[in-house]
Amino acid sequence: MELTDAINLRRTVRDFFADRVPYDVVKKALQAGLKAPSYNHQKQWDFILVKDKDIRLQLTKTEEMKDKIDEDLKKRFEMYDPLSKEMYLDAIPKQRRMIMEAPELLIVVYKPKTQIKESQRVYDLNCLASVWCCIENILLSLAEDNVFGVTFIPQNTALVKDVLNIPQEMEVAAFIPFGYKAKDAKILPQKEAKLEEKLHIDRW
Ligand SMILES: Cc1cc2nc3c(=O)[nH]c(=O)nc-3n(C[C@H](O)[C@H](O)[C@H](O)COP(=O)(O)O)c2cc1C
Repeated sequence: MELTDAINLRRTVRDFFADRVPYDVVKKALQAGLKAPSYNHQKQWDFILVKDKDIRLQLTKTEEMKDKIDEDLKKRFEMYDPLSKEMYLDAIPKQRRMIMEAPELLIVVYKPKTQIKESQRVYDLNCLASVWCCIENILLSLAEDNVFGVTFIPQNTALVKDVLNIPQEMEVAAFIPFGYKAKDAKILPQKEAKLEEKLHIDRW
């Protein structure tokens, strides 16, 4: 597959077919992740594949996850643009299920350059920028093999670190539940971004 095809094919998927993903496919994706640019030339990223259901359950308990859209939530998204609203209303009730039931659950961990609270400049976030380059490579490699996932950003990473025994100096970038798409997987319309409106030459 051409790189451009994988880029166009990659979409966020939250509904999975039960089959496991062959380890060769997972390995290829993680190796693609490890080819990403890193701000300090150190690739300070680690991966945890969580297979154990009890550990997954503990991860879902590190924050509140709603299984239904209630009136409060509906109200909260009323003023959002229609595409974002559709996305949140579809995604929110799936968060717990995708962590529990996706055939594969990858946790991507990175070494922060500075503590989040101390970060003052974009430059201080280079570590986060780098780990997201790694994550995108993983998603594109998976898409090339018709495997799709979703990036979930945990709110209480201190609790997640406890559950997974992650060293204090490291931080959690994202959970990536992934697998083959369920037959009825919901793929939401992507926001169209027109290059003519986004590209500025010389000055904004
Ligand atoms: C930084 C980041 C954080 C995200 N957090 C979540 C999340 O917590 N839960 C979720 O279901 N999707 C999450 N997403 C997925 C987005 O909802 C999705 O990428 C977006 O709707 C665009 O859809 P697409 O990926 O199919 O183009 C996140 C994506 C990014 C890049």
